[in-house]
Amino acid sequence: MKALVIYTSQTGFTKRYAGWLAEELGGEAVDLNDVKNASEERFSEYDTIVYGGWANAGKIVRAEWFLKKAPSWKDKKLAVFCVGAAKAGDQNMRNALNKALDTEQKKYIGIFYLPGGMNYEKLKAGSRLLMKAYAAMLKKKPETQEYGEMISKSFDMSDRKYLEPVLKYLGNTD
Ligand SMILES: Cc1cc2nc3c(=O)[nH]c(=O)nc-3n(C[C@H](O)[C@H](O)[C@H](O)COP(=O)(O)O)c2cc1C
Repeated sequence: MKALVIYTSQTGFTKRYAGWLAEELGGEAVDLNDVKNASEERFSEYDTIVYGGWANAGKIVRAEWFLKKAPSWKDKKLAVFCVGAAKAGDQNMRNALNKALDTEQKKYIGIFYLPGGMNYEKLKAGSRLLMKAYAAMLKKKPETQEYGEMISKSFDMSDRKYLEPVLKYLGNTD
């Protein structure tokens, strides 16, 4: 099995998961920017292609690139993963992932959430301000206070163990 893991990452969490996944699958991890204009031939040697993007306001960043390619890759094993600040099992994230693929895409593309974290040091200035403001807003409501506090500072939840369902889906269980 030859695997390619393509990722988009701003602060490093998605890149880290892509690297771990490529390691587990014995494949390679590449930044989307390095393959986005590549010809079909570049992808033909792989029988597994995975795309990972970070969560931005409930959307998987640049997943549309992968989803446009996916119909011509139906003979391969395909999966998408999303990396965010939400905890594993978060209901909002479940809903977001459920909406990320349509009924047809769900038949041949696996979709997974991998808990990342926040890294304020590496965030672009605009994003940093946005997140601080969002966190402050969440902290004001009792039902979202805890999440607001969590995302108001840097933290790291990333762990290889979260890759288990992805590896199982891709048929790599050893
Ligand atoms: C503008 C912005 C919007 C975000 N929206 C979400 C979100 O909707 N859900 C979530 O779980 N995390 C959200 N996050 C957190 C990032 O997805 C999280 O920090 C992720 O680990 C970043 O991955 P990266 O290090 O690969 O860039 C957001 C972060 C920023 C900067």
